[in-house]
Amino acid sequence: MNASNTTPLIHVESLHRHFRMGEEIVRALDGVTFSVYPGEFFGIMGASGSGKSTLLYLIGGLDRPTSGRVIVEGRDLTALEENDLAAYRRHTVGFVYQMFHLIPTMTALQNVELPMMIARVPPKQRRARAEDLLRQMGLGDRLHHKPIELSGGQRQRVAIARALSNDPTIILADEPTGNLDSHAGAEVVRLLKSLAHEQGRTVLIVSHDPQVIAQTDRYIRLRDGRIVEEGTP
Ligand SMILES: Nc1ncnc2c1ncn2[C@@H]1O[C@H](COP(=O)(O)OP(=O)(O)O)[C@@H](O)[C@H]1O
Ligand SMILES: [Mg+2]
Repeated sequence: MNASNTTPLIHVESLHRHFRMGEEIVRALDGVTFSVYPGEFFGIMGASGSGKSTLLYLIGGLDRPTSGRVIVEGRDLTALEENDLAAYRRHTVGFVYQMFHLIPTMTALQNVELPMMIARVPPKQRRARAEDLLRQMGLGDRLHHKPIELSGGQRQRVAIARALSNDPTIILADEPTGNLDSHAGAEVVRLLKSLAHEQGRTVLIVSHDPQVIAQTDRYIRLRDGRIVEEGTP
């Protein structure tokens, strides 16, 4: 879906993020402008160090830019107070990471319930929702397993269920298949794509795997903090 007559869900405008490292300034993002439309499955490619994670952190409200703007649903994130930015992170975005970032002492169910605990969802309701999400991820028979008792692909599916727990509009997945074999990776990509195409969420996926990018609706490629290519697979 790339209807240029719809309003972008995410608009990134002249985005810069510079880091001072001693005498040197690292331009992790060096003037990035693009839009993502509602319900798109959107790819971000680029070599290691090209600025992909920095870009996702800024869209996710985990970091603030040096200059430029990130507009989501018409709101400029860079103008939000810390409290409003925290609410944005809690309710509008869900993150999926390469290393899963599950809590090892908690079961799959407890991991998925955790963001809802923080959002003060009542226990019965959050338990029911966590079970439902894990079933949607094909993990109905793994509710009480801890991460160490699950395969990589299963762990990532728990992480996707957790990312969905507060019903976000946007999913930000940073190399979600980077630690998976090709079969498990393909399943994770299929699930993420279905969140966009079947549930209408907007999904951004970072990957340098051409087979992953081939599944997206549209992609950009970063090099040294700039967009060097935009395309449709
Ligand atoms: N917190 C930071 N402090 C200093 N440099 C950083 C920081 N975060 C990222 N960088 C630098 O910014 C560049 C882009 O990093 P990153 O966004 O992580 O790239 P990618 O995810 O594409 O591998 C790299 O050169 C990296 O070393
Ligand atoms: Mg990265």
